[in-house]
Amino acid sequence: MCGIIGYTGSENAVPRLLEGLRTLEYRGYDSAGIAIFSEKNSLTGIKSKGRIENLEAKLSYFPDASVSHCGIGHTRWATHGEPSDINSHPHGTPRVYIVHNGIIENYAELKDFLISQGYTFSSQTDTEAAALMIDYCYNLTQNPADAILSAVKRFKGSYAIGAVFSSEPGKIYAIRKDNPLIAAISSDGCFIASDLPAVLKYTDNYMRIDEGELAVVEQSGIKIYSPDKTEVKRDFKKAEWDVSCATKGEYPHFMLKEIHEEPTALFQTLYPIISDGMPNFDSAGLNDTRLKKFKKIYVVACGTAMHAGLVGKFIAEKMARVPLEVEIASEFRYKNPILDKTDMVIIISQSGETADSLAALRLAKQCGAYTLGVVNVPGSSVAREADGVIYTHAGPEIAVASTKAYTVQLGIMYLFAFRLAYAHEKMDSSQLRKYTQELITSVPELIHKILDTQSECAAISKKYKNAHSAFFIGRGLDYALSSEAALKLKEISYIHSEAYAAGELKHGTLSLVCEDTPVFAFAGCADLLDKTISNLREVRARGGKVVLICQQGFQVPSDSYDDILYLPSCDQMFTIFPAATIAQLIAYYTSLELGRDIDRPRNLAKSVTVE
Ligand code: F6R
Repeated sequence: MCGIIGYTGSENAVPRLLEGLRTLEYRGYDSAGIAIFSEKNSLTGIKSKGRIENLEAKLSYFPDASVSHCGIGHTRWATHGEPSDINSHPHGTPRVYIVHNGIIENYAELKDFLISQGYTFSSQTDTEAAALMIDYCYNLTQNPADAILSAVKRFKGSYAIGAVFSSEPGKIYAIRKDNPLIAAISSDGCFIASDLPAVLKYTDNYMRIDEGELAVVEQSGIKIYSPDKTEVKRDFKKAEWDVSCATKGEYPHFMLKEIHEEPTALFQTLYPIISDGMPNFDSAGLNDTRLKKFKKIYVVACGTAMHAGLVGKFIAEKMARVPLEVEIASEFRYKNPILDKTDMVIIISQSGETADSLAALRLAKQCGAYTLGVVNVPGSSVAREADGVIYTHAGPEIAVASTKAYTVQLGIMYLFAFRLAYAHEKMDSSQLRKYTQELITSVPELIHKILDTQSECAAISKKYKNAHSAFFIGRGLDYALSSEAALKLKEISYIHSEAYAAGELKHGTLSLVCEDTPVFAFAGCADLLDKTISNLREVRARGGKVVLICQQGFQVPSDSYDDILYLPSCDQMFTIFPAATIAQLIAYYTSLELGRDIDRPRNLAKSVTVE
């Protein structure tokens, strides 16, 4: 969504704000802006449509930009009003400027009221209504903290807001509801930010700001107040991530770096859950007796995280013979789901802040269900609100397209399914240990082998880069993977791509297959290979081009494919891991061939904190 940053301290604020915005660009990148205090303490807003470089170029015309010690900044993902200079943040008046992440749902109502009070609006944004409402309240109270606290009482929707007031140079105010916000302290000053990586270059001492709390940030320190203005004592934490996580290192793109981090991320995620050779979920409040008692188990998530749930469904149902339903969070939250305290709802979320997933979690809790968060960002909203949490230790994922987070989510789904099978006495302890051992030791190796031969994926991508449309097909587990593979390709290459069950293509969709249509077929499982091969022949008979991805050593007739990529031979249950890496690399190299903005694809943003 949007990213916000603020700095106040002894050093020049602008380089710190720009650095933070660059790190936060994954949250939105259609415009950027800052509000800074000058040396003489006057307040200026400077903003620009487009990337941060445009803002940086504009700043050279503002002498204050080289001497300011306090300011706030914003990188935008447009929700209300097109990307433009006017709609960029900060918004406000000469008295107060704000940056905002979220949506003020009742902005039209606020705007009508403010117009009736003599205010005029220049942008199409919801944020301007919030800014002017804070200004209105400031006019009444003459106190920034009171102005913010009384203004937010009138807001419906979600917000993380950073505000500066001309009457209080050097001070930043920040408040949040349903959107992330942290505060941090360094040797030369203090920060606010949407996310920890934005400040890691300067400090690893941070604290989260809780729902409804007001943070008052000065060079000397940070004070947190509850909505009734009582001071809340909170200790700083040490960041679990270091600054290298937020840089590309030797890689040309974050996406490629993050794909290469998969083997390590998988090991680091699984290792802490294993005790005595078996997965153990006691720390999340899930012993075998409890696991066995749940009547229904749901996975609720969005996008890639939901696709990890589809794999979890397949494995859990196969191994534990327990039904597991997968729901899209934005649907689940409005469908009045049949849930009670005998049920379990697993929310999978890399960011832990996705608005729909968070709303689904809250709904499940209201219904009395046990909620488990599978989350990558420590201390995020899903992690804090779920009854139990399992962390995926992938480190920050900066590229908009999720890769390593998916891999580690799969890892957790596998361990969960194994333990569920054990709890239901469908698997004995020696099998459980064997599968667990294989997942933690062999699977990272399988992914390594794909990374070592990534040039083969690059060659396939080059060959099919001009396709208008592509299909990803498979059966069983491979079908579950196809959904993610198709999303990855369309998301960053802008080639239309769809996933189909291999046997379903002929029931209508085959009419779309023509000579320039690549059909990527995942066939990791020997027991379904013959069936899939028949489907591939159907595709080739219509002129479609088949790229087969199957295990090394499978006997595959040469008339069933045009190109072939091999997965290292392994237990068929685990082929999905190296196959996922192949899918990600194909998406990456296709986009590279097409000259796309791989880490920041058009129209998208990471961490979707609006509905
Ligand atoms: C696609 C992608 C998205 C996210 C989805 C959920 O590559 O990243 O589909 O998976 O927006 O995000 P989280 O996992 O943060 O809840």
